[in-house]
Amino acid sequence: MSSDQIALSTSRALEEQEDHGSNPTAGVSIGDIVAERLSRRDLGRGILAVFALDAVMPSLMPSPAAAAKVQAIRSFTFDEIAAGTDDMHHVAAGYDADVLIRWGDKVAGGAPDFEPAKLTAAAQGQQFGYNNDFIGFLPFDGKSDHGLLVVNHEYTSAEMMFAGLGGLDKEARVASATAERVGIEMMAHGGSVIEIKRTDAKWRVVDASRYARRITAETPMRMSGPAAGHVKMMTNADPSGTVVNGMVNNCAGATTPWGTWLTCEENINGYFWNKAALETHAEASALKRYGIPSEWYAWGKFHDRFDIGKEPNEAHRFGWVVEIDPFDPASTPVKRTALGRFKHEGAGNIINKDGRFVVYQGDDERFDYVYKFVTDAAVDLANPSANKNILDSGTLYVARFNADGSGAWLPLVHGVGPLIAANGFKDQGDVVIFARQAGDLVGATRMDRPEDVEANPKTNSVYVMLTNNNKRKDGQTDAANPRADNQFGHIIEINPDGGDHASTVFTWNILVKCGDPSVAAVGATFNPLTSSNGWFGMPDNCAVDGLGRLWVATDGNAPSKTGRSDGIWAMETDGAARGTSKLFFRVPSGAEMCGPCFTPDLETFFVAVQHPGEADDDDPKATPASFEAPSTRWPDFKPDVPPRPAVVAITKSGGGKIAV
Ligand code: FEO
Ligand code: CA
Ligand code: CA
Repeated sequence: MSSDQIALSTSRALEEQEDHGSNPTAGVSIGDIVAERLSRRDLGRGILAVFALDAVMPSLMPSPAAAAKVQAIRSFTFDEIAAGTDDMHHVAAGYDADVLIRWGDKVAGGAPDFEPAKLTAAAQGQQFGYNNDFIGFLPFDGKSDHGLLVVNHEYTSAEMMFAGLGGLDKEARVASATAERVGIEMMAHGGSVIEIKRTDAKWRVVDASRYARRITAETPMRMSGPAAGHVKMMTNADPSGTVVNGMVNNCAGATTPWGTWLTCEENINGYFWNKAALETHAEASALKRYGIPSEWYAWGKFHDRFDIGKEPNEAHRFGWVVEIDPFDPASTPVKRTALGRFKHEGAGNIINKDGRFVVYQGDDERFDYVYKFVTDAAVDLANPSANKNILDSGTLYVARFNADGSGAWLPLVHGVGPLIAANGFKDQGDVVIFARQAGDLVGATRMDRPEDVEANPKTNSVYVMLTNNNKRKDGQTDAANPRADNQFGHIIEINPDGGDHASTVFTWNILVKCGDPSVAAVGATFNPLTSSNGWFGMPDNCAVDGLGRLWVATDGNAPSKTGRSDGIWAMETDGAARGTSKLFFRVPSGAEMCGPCFTPDLETFFVAVQHPGEADDDDPKATPASFEAPSTRWPDFKPDVPPRPAVVAITKSGGGKIAV
């Protein structure tokens, strides 16, 4: 950490440390071939087709006739907003963007009012948690105006939540932690289930709903699948290796067609303590491959299970996809270990044409992998409870992207290829617990931080958000990760062979390389019809709406980095407008954009504003932000209330479908 980073915001400090590129393998190194292939291929699919019609080749500037033609076929009907940064959120004209629920608002019926100067663990355990990320909407009886909203609370930012920590660097903030503060942090993690209803065109949280529920870092959970009961999952508190308390760093996720919530543990390394114990740990190299322990939080000072010297296996019990049934408030969340253990971003999914369920997953770390899981059984839509344990049996695969635009899903199955006892994999439990090392052995492609991966049910194309990788050097580029020092990220489109998501082969191409297209050195490839507001960097989360249109949420845009805040961009994927994007919504200063989620009728778009009020961490001259001195007090704008992460419901003024 350099001196000008002394008081980095929690979100950036975590990213800088977590994101150290712990994958040591050479992986697939592909080389030069590609830039040329990609530019030909990308252009051929989109703009050139249109320009050629108007005989404007070889110029890439559209003629007025071509521009009109492209405009006409664009699929998103809204006027984009200006990119920029200020202390408010902004949405396209003709839309309302209303705060639905904020950090500290009541979830459980008896929850106390939010008192920012008097936080307690007991109150926080009943109130909406911090740093909302994934949002899922589960309708009652298919209704789009009444349902359950499930929301992840990814992590806590002590300097923004608690008074008196401004000016301390990250280590000093951690060192100052008390048991009481740790208790509040643990209760502010996890997720929330709330019942919401739309009446008189406005969404409201239903008070004292029987479904209202907080999941925290202490909620009892069950393990299922190949790692449940495994020797490396056993602890002093749980000699059975089958039960665990809590989930942490739940980033993105998904809902399932049978009405459950998949919530994904991402940067688990930061919760574990005791770097001094690492070298004598029996699994030291395995822990290092996951960056454990990183000591971002002081939980291990007060809770033995987060101290790797005291509980050597506890870290193996985190880093999973957790399935929760929000319609049964008494249900026990289940960590589905068959889907592998890594820094899960999300769990984008689709029912394959043969009925099996396919979950796409990114491992958000520099040089880590893209995965998918294919169930053995077909989904039974007529009988939702029949799918209760469908995620326990299936095949986990990791992706290899070849230079010629083909790709392969490599099975991570014990006994197949190198995944044998001689290489440290005694059973499938070892394979899923150490999924990263399994991916290393089979030769997966090392990616530029895979975030959300979402399938489009209308086209069967799959979109992979690769957010950035400033550690990739010249000579380490490959076809799928073609830029060294990839500051702005890119989006890959995967096309499963024959539209079969269970197939082990696919083709792929790059939808867009992100960043400012007006700076040649950046090498961005947005469709030239994209306006100066319409380009973005750092794609993170995404959603495919009911019309098969792609919406991209970003993390990392800031005034000093891209001259704009994070937001939601509508991204054309097909036809002549492919590669064009438009800005629909932007966050208040210091925030990142998470959770894009539509109701089935496409009339409401829920988005999550995470960590509002932080400083511009890319600007060395920016004043560090804190509880006392945030960059915005959104959404309350009261002098004694800090900024609060919140869910925003976007609707069309007067009703109607979004961007139609
Ligand atoms: Fe939690 Fe990869 O973002
Ligand atoms: Ca994310
Ligand atoms: Ca993020």
